[in-house]
Amino acid sequence: MASHQIPIHQLTSLLGEWRGPSSDYTSLAERVRLMVIDGRIKAGARLPSERVMAEHLGISRTTVNSALAELRASGYVRSRQGSGSVLDIPGRTGDLPIPQAGDMLDLSRATSAAVPGVHAAAERALRWLPARLTTDGYELSGLPALRETLADRYTASGVPTTPENIVVTSGSAGAISLIARTLLAPGDRVIVETPGYPHSNDAFRSAGARLLPTIVDGDLGWDADEFAGTVERALPTLAYVMPDFHNPTSRSMSDAVRTTIVDVASRHGTVIVSDETTAELDIDRSEATLPLAVYDTHGNTVISVGSASKTMWGGLRVGWVRASSTIIDRLVAARFSFDLGAAVMDQLITSELFDGFDEVIGYRQEIHRASRDALANALARHLPTAHLHPVEGGVAAWVRFDAPVSSALTVAARRRGLLIGAGPWFGLSGEFERNIRVPITATPDAIERAVAILADAMIETARPGREAGRSVL
Ligand SMILES: Cc1ncc(COP(=O)(O)O)c(C=O)c1O
Repeated sequence: MASHQIPIHQLTSLLGEWRGPSSDYTSLAERVRLMVIDGRIKAGARLPSERVMAEHLGISRTTVNSALAELRASGYVRSRQGSGSVLDIPGRTGDLPIPQAGDMLDLSRATSAAVPGVHAAAERALRWLPARLTTDGYELSGLPALRETLADRYTASGVPTTPENIVVTSGSAGAISLIARTLLAPGDRVIVETPGYPHSNDAFRSAGARLLPTIVDGDLGWDADEFAGTVERALPTLAYVMPDFHNPTSRSMSDAVRTTIVDVASRHGTVIVSDETTAELDIDRSEATLPLAVYDTHGNTVISVGSASKTMWGGLRVGWVRASSTIIDRLVAARFSFDLGAAVMDQLITSELFDGFDEVIGYRQEIHRASRDALANALARHLPTAHLHPVEGGVAAWVRFDAPVSSALTVAARRRGLLIGAGPWFGLSGEFERNIRVPITATPDAIERAVAILADAMIETARPGREAGRSVL
């Protein structure tokens, strides 16, 4: 099958400030490798020709050729006569193999081990299993008891809900991809946040959507006027937002922002997907908030997405959608081609865990608070010029350096045994080179070690005379 060629302008924008302390060809190879590893460029894509790359990157063809030779040697490029240089992920050898979890300190994912009660909840859930075994087990909408619990929780939070407004999915990832497949047609426009959650962007892209950015500033949050302008100009089909403890900035929308975006969306027929996967993980937010769906007085503008993953355990793979019953019916009908419902046992366990949900949240809150404080302390000691945007909850902290070093820093950190997501991974086209995401789901000890590694890696990225690196130290 012919591979898709990355347009040169896209490649140069994704590469950003790729030059580093090593020779140009090594730096270029390392940057391309990082982008393949963290998914910013897909394996299977074809690089532009050597001549075009040399011309646009301002380097000689020999340098491009050497970078490709390095990528080929480490298994990240396959070159075939006539088909150019195709990116790949090596399965075997290479000087920078994909590290296996366990070998490395992995802060690339904002995830954590289960809360303590999951095992006991699984035992209790077994009581309900015999009754389920008499059914065929295909629960396309989700188990009635779980949908009822979820509906009651929404109603108590100010969003009147019945089980007909709920469909249970395989995690919120399953919910988002179901929404994308069902509500989008190729060419539709979708507003997404930058920085934002890359896997959701991928789900919308897979459905053929064109993504339009709306900025979430690490200190100031959303610009409601900018959002409104984009809705009015582009009439997007969907807008995807994380109003509470946005991943990765941890910002929450103010009441005024919520009011404005729901109002403009409802006037222009844009449906807002409110990803509330991390919404319950409050540490010490100063402002009380109401769910985005509360602002949707007609009930057909906001679709809420939730998950048991970040509160209870990711291994449950239980998420859900709350929407008008019309939308829920469309989602359930669209499911048949790829997913016939979430696992019954997982739903039973999740239902049990909702019984003691305050304790679940209390447990997470304590750990996330300790990790956030450990991060602030470690940054002050090891990387004092880094700016930690306020973290009031959620799963991640967004850190800003005063130079565009993020990709180079994560490559250097990888060599020292730390996996961490470079800032540009959370953007749409190579931006956020000054940022890095640190998950506060990691333990305080892991965070302390990670920051020490980053500080050490920072020395390597600071080439003498290189303005970018020097100003960070
Ligand atoms: C904002 C956000 N949405 C969705 C997901 C997917 O979560 P899951 O499918 O485990 O529910 C995550 C997980 O990291 C997330 O952070």
